[in-house]
Amino acid sequence: MDFCIFETKNKYLLHLSGKKAPWSQKRNEMEKGRGEKNRSVTEDKSLISRSRISQQNSLPPLIGALKASAEKNAASFHFPGHNRGRAAPSSLTQLIGVRPFIHDLPELPELDNLFSPEGPILEAQMQAAKLFGSSETWFLVGGTTCGIQAAIMATCSPGEHIILPRNSHISAISAMVLSGAIPKYILPEYDCKWDIAGGVTPSQVGKAIKELQMDGKKPAAVFITSPTYHGICSDLSDISQLCHAYGIPVIVDEAHGAHLGFHPWV
Ligand SMILES: Cc1ncc(COP(=O)(O)O)c(C=O)c1O
Repeated sequence: MDFCIFETKNKYLLHLSGKKAPWSQKRNEMEKGRGEKNRSVTEDKSLISRSRISQQNSLPPLIGALKASAEKNAASFHFPGHNRGRAAPSSLTQLIGVRPFIHDLPELPELDNLFSPEGPILEAQMQAAKLFGSSETWFLVGGTTCGIQAAIMATCSPGEHIILPRNSHISAISAMVLSGAIPKYILPEYDCKWDIAGGVTPSQVGKAIKELQMDGKKPAAVFITSPTYHGICSDLSDISQLCHAYGIPVIVDEAHGAHLGFHPWV
């Protein structure tokens, strides 16, 4: 299985592709049970049916749920303390109006639970997975950093090796600290004309794997940044093929490439 993490305009996504992960079974069971849940959401009858919310005006699931919740004339006894804008500082409402505050809502029951989604979040994640062609997609609230940390910690145990470019984002370094993984760095070619680092080539990855093998080690994961901050893409297809031949998962930091899948040429 491979991971691909990137950020869209307002969401961070962690995708998983390849073989079904063990937790897919649980998810399938949840999906089967959803039909039942959509008919009777909770014992609190005041809650709007999640399926009805998400289908409202054919809006995307989360937007529909947010709109329906914001339109309720509800007293708020929850965070955030601006109380749906009523208690927002006038200096801010004068600047951006009250509407952003009306929609600034926390994990209310009708807005689903990010840790165990069953309603609009699950629906939105499934739609995103379909759109991006992944087997699983999770929305992240801790930036791309949190996806990189999750992917590295999911693949590398303390003392195991990870192959990654020397110019990886600092979040990969923090993930190695958290997971206890040991780096095997690849030095990307430097383009002196443009004064920027290049991508990682399949032969560099192959060389790093072989060097570890000569020491009697097998990398637990290969981490690639593609595209880089400067837009340099690596040959992910060949790198994945190579790593999969060794049974090594590939993690792609695609923080700057959320849009690439929508272009017919890339
Ligand atoms: C290539 C790359 N990966 C990861 C990150 C971390 O993203 P975030 O700040 O959303 O955690 C960044 C941030 O700029 C980045 O450029």
